[in-house]
Amino acid sequence: MSKACIIGWPVAHSRSPLIHGYWLRRYAIDGSYDKQPVPPGEVAAFLDRLRAQGFAGCNVTVPHKEAALAAARRQSPAARAVGAANTLWYEEGELACDNTDAAGFMSHLAAAAPAFKPEACARACVLGAGGAARAVIYALLGAGVKSVALVNRTPARADRVAAFFGPRVKAYAWSDANACAREAQILVNATTLGMHGTQPGLEIDLTGLEAGSVVADLVYVPLVTPLLAAAKARGLVAVDGLGMLLHQAVPGFEKWFGVRPEVTAELRAVLIADIERH
Ligand SMILES: NC(=O)c1ccc[n+]([C@@H]2O[C@H](COP(=O)([O-])OP(=O)(O)OC[C@H]3O[C@@H](n4cnc5c(N)ncnc54)[C@H](OP(=O)(O)O)[C@@H]3O)[C@@H](O)[C@H]2O)c1
Repeated sequence: MSKACIIGWPVAHSRSPLIHGYWLRRYAIDGSYDKQPVPPGEVAAFLDRLRAQGFAGCNVTVPHKEAALAAARRQSPAARAVGAANTLWYEEGELACDNTDAAGFMSHLAAAAPAFKPEACARACVLGAGGAARAVIYALLGAGVKSVALVNRTPARADRVAAFFGPRVKAYAWSDANACAREAQILVNATTLGMHGTQPGLEIDLTGLEAGSVVADLVYVPLVTPLLAAAKARGLVAVDGLGMLLHQAVPGFEKWFGVRPEVTAELRAVLIADIERH
């Protein structure tokens, strides 16, 4: 039997077991995927014992993504660029890692906004400068988007991220958010703003965005954030955060259980039902 898990602190809230459990049943795989609470400071020791505990690998959630990157002997270019790992597995006996948020974002974008062609996109606007924003910027640049306006509340953090990615990424102050959004063919919220129960809504003026522009939100609780509702009301292409969550899980499942799983409408419905229950 193959085993995988997700580590975090806390980890009880994670929806990853719902996703992987669904795929294990769907593909009739004799395997398991569970939650492992790992306190800060114990990540390296837990990962040292991962294989001995019978795990083929694991997912990693906050606050352990940086420690997981440091613990892995083999790091994918995406994990290095983002500075954080969310998926671990073994390659020739060595712990390997990836950050699958970048690929997950692009896979969902391709499915949800098929008319958007990154290689034809002159300008993207990304709100936020945390790990999620770095993954999105890495993904967009890699897919051929020519430039990214990075807008963040804390300027120093935006400056650091822009400096890391080079001249195609320029940092802007939070007060420039509306102006940057207006000039972009794709606007991505990679802040926590709009998240149910914890944060105020994100107030961005979408009136200047051209028809056909894409508005993506990484927040997926609620599924339709105030930003996405505003985008839909204006006839823009709204891309939710749930699809990214589902697609980022695909590479890990394939590494651990040997089947490349499909993101289906049925799986989406399972997650939506869970989001609505809580
Ligand atoms: N859909 C998915 O699969 C997926 C995957 C990963 C992450 N996410 C979501 O993406 C979001 C960001 O995640 P992360 O890991 O990058 O988090 P993070 O590292 O904590 O970054 C949070 C970002 O939100 C900004 N922010 C927080 N409160 C704000 C406020 N009141 N006003 C303006 N900006 C504010 C922060 O700005 P400062 O730098 O100024 O603090 C920072 O840029 C979360 O909602 C997370 O759930 C979704």
